Amino acid sequence: MIILSVETSCDETAVAVTRNGREVLSDEIFSQVDMHAIYGGVVPEIASRSHIEVISRLADSAIAKAHIKKGDIDAVAVTYAPGLIGALLVGLNFAKSAALALSVPLVPVHHIRGHIAANYLAYPELKPPFLALVVSGGHTLIIDVRDYTQMKILGSTRDDAAGECFDKVARVLGLGYPGGRPIDLLSQSGDSSKYPLPRAKVDDCPLDFSFSGLKTAVLNTVNNAKQKGEELDKASLAASFSAAVSDSIVSRVMEAARQTGHRKIACAGGVVANSRIRSDLTAACEKEGIALYLAPLNLCGDNAAMIGSQGYYELKAGNIAGTDLNAWATMDVDNIL
Ligand code: KG4
Ligand code: ZN
Repeated sequence: MIILSVETSCDETAVAVTRNGREVLSDEIFSQVDMHAIYGGVVPEIASRSHIEVISRLADSAIAKAHIKKGDIDAVAVTYAPGLIGALLVGLNFAKSAALALSVPLVPVHHIRGHIAANYLAYPELKPPFLALVVSGGHTLIIDVRDYTQMKILGSTRDDAAGECFDKVARVLGLGYPGGRPIDLLSQSGDSSKYPLPRAKVDDCPLDFSFSGLKTAVLNTVNNAKQKGEELDKASLAASFSAAVSDSIVSRVMEAARQTGHRKIACAGGVVANSRIRSDLTAACEKEGIALYLAPLNLCGDNAAMIGSQGYYELKAGNIAGTDLNAWATMDVDNIL
């Protein structure tokens, strides 16, 4: 089963060809990061316009690099939610046209389900049930993955997503956009115990996250240093911040594993590229004897191969869309339309 997959939910235009949900034949990505960097964040209108300019060429290139013919494609999978509406619609319309032209099924894929599926591409032995952690620019989620297309959210953020927080903190530290990777690199030379920062808890919901207090604490630290004329140790603040995010994430995932009895944890999303989070998760899972699956760095961020992988399982479950398929800015991973 060969799937052509399309992902345009944010600022990456991506088209891939995958086989049987587990094998990547090609994975093309055009990142718009440079176009948005001067604005300090993604500009939706620019994102949509850029997607429409490059998507056809990217698809041709994905098909050529996979060494297949268009007639070999069995289905077209596409991200239809959640994301920027204008951006999603570009990929969705392209996928609809492709499915129609090739006379193959159109498979709708939820973006977060795609992030989880990045692990199926990297770890052939990984099969549900397991616990998933997805941490990205817009989401911080702990999910009980009961089957490939059946899941239940156990914990989510009450305010900012962890990635948003990384981007905001990077901005006040003058590190540019997107800020996760620069903070990660700067943290390497810092002392993570230098600045005391909060690890917020949500009353009565021990698996939910809250990062707004942490973000404010970092901003206050920066402003206080400015007012007092003190020199800020940026590397140590970046390291202290990363440690606080990591502690919040790791403690909740391990608690979720205890509560559910899962012995496998699969992690994905842009923020899972963070070295502190990766090493803390590794240490915690080793201690508890839990099998940890960390999406490889090239599959942590947005890509279309992960959509092709999940698309395979959605198709097997009979999830096929009509030509009236619409895009949605928000949609829960465990309650899809
Ligand atoms: O999953 P993703 O590529 O896009 C969304 O679906 O949101 O995640 C992007 C987020 C950005 O906030 C970026 O700053 C963050 O992932 N990120 C990182 C790292 N690399 C990317 N955050 C922390 N450490 C990193 N190494
Ligand atoms: Zn994403």
